[in-house]
Amino acid sequence: MIQPPEFKNIYFAQAADVWLQEWADSQSFSQVFVLCDQHTYRHCFQAWRPNVPFLARAQVLLIPPGEASKSSHQLRLLWSALSQAGADRHSLLINVGGGVTTDLGGLVAATYMRGIPFVQVPTSLLAMADAAVGGKTGINHGEAKNRVGAFATPAAVLIRPSFLETLPPAEWYSGRAEMLKHGLMADAAHFHAVAAVDFEQRRMPLELLRHTLALKQAVVAQDPREQGPRKKLNLGHTLGHALESFYARTEQPLRHGHAVALGLQVALALSVTHLGLPPEEAQEALQRLRADYPWPALPAPWAALEPLLRGDKKNKGTEIRMVLLPHLGEAQPDISLPASALQTALEQVRAGHAL
Ligand SMILES: NC(=O)c1ccc[n+]([C@@H]2O[C@H](COP(=O)([O-])OP(=O)(O)OC[C@H]3O[C@@H](n4cnc5c(N)ncnc54)[C@H](O)[C@@H]3O)[C@@H](O)[C@H]2O)c1
Repeated sequence: MIQPPEFKNIYFAQAADVWLQEWADSQSFSQVFVLCDQHTYRHCFQAWRPNVPFLARAQVLLIPPGEASKSSHQLRLLWSALSQAGADRHSLLINVGGGVTTDLGGLVAATYMRGIPFVQVPTSLLAMADAAVGGKTGINHGEAKNRVGAFATPAAVLIRPSFLETLPPAEWYSGRAEMLKHGLMADAAHFHAVAAVDFEQRRMPLELLRHTLALKQAVVAQDPREQGPRKKLNLGHTLGHALESFYARTEQPLRHGHAVALGLQVALALSVTHLGLPPEEAQEALQRLRADYPWPALPAPWAALEPLLRGDKKNKGTEIRMVLLPHLGEAQPDISLPASALQTALEQVRAGHAL
């Protein structure tokens, strides 16, 4: 099947299964491993396996579900499992899961024997719309998100929307946040179209998924190693990661996408005060985000957030650097801000003030 250039190694729906079988037939892999978490093994891999005859020979590696699996501990366990199974450079790793599985599994593949071939098979909306695409892999270190990682290109990304049938509702919302981010960053109409999807039906039109990926791929193609334009994809993530790390220590952890959506709300407010984003444009977007991504009842104290923000890997020295928006659909990276501006915007947005 011919893919548009921006989808060079991304295969959708039925074409994904066909590609995998044909590609595998054309290679001579010594062994095949499939990495899943316990949920994606049960809900996704078991149902998928009979559709692709090649998968019959796969050995399954299982990790516990959840962000805590993006750890050096799991990385070491997986290196050991591959070693013990006699995996060599001609072994294939197929990562079947959400962003945790594709980030961790991607790093395993990038590092084991200095790199083995791998395929990303995202099963959550977040991983289909963002995490599995673009070549970033990684794990967390201490409280720092994605502190250790590598850029690594999978042989392909296989997007099978039917996996989404078993995705829990909160995960749909989390995934949609990254799609909304792509719209705010590069295409305001996309932001509004994604925000208008009726999520009660748990359906994401394939054309919106494809468009969100095209927006991401266009930025990644310009700057695969994040030296310049790719930084735009971090919109909402400076504060988002700090909030995600803070709430991970509480009894109400925030999903990645929810934390990013809160970061987007504050980025909108700062874009008005620091980059001249027209307040009426910002206000409408803010209202849409507030409706679906409320602030947790337990506020994160600034004293706890500030060190997390200062440790963000996008900063240089001790400045806080953020991506802001001169207009909806246009992002500008590397805006240096005093911490006090961020604190003020955060408090105003959390209190529900208008822009
Ligand atoms: N590499 C990148 O460019 C990039 C970009 C964005 C986010 N991320 C990372 O992605 C991670 C978040 O990804 P996520 O939200 O997919 O988290 P996740 O992998 O933890 O998945 C969320 C939950 O949904 C379950 N699940 C996934 N697919 C399912 C399905 N089809 N049916 C039933 N349950 C299913 C998982 O088991 C898990 O419990 C974060 O660690 C984030 O840092 C990476």
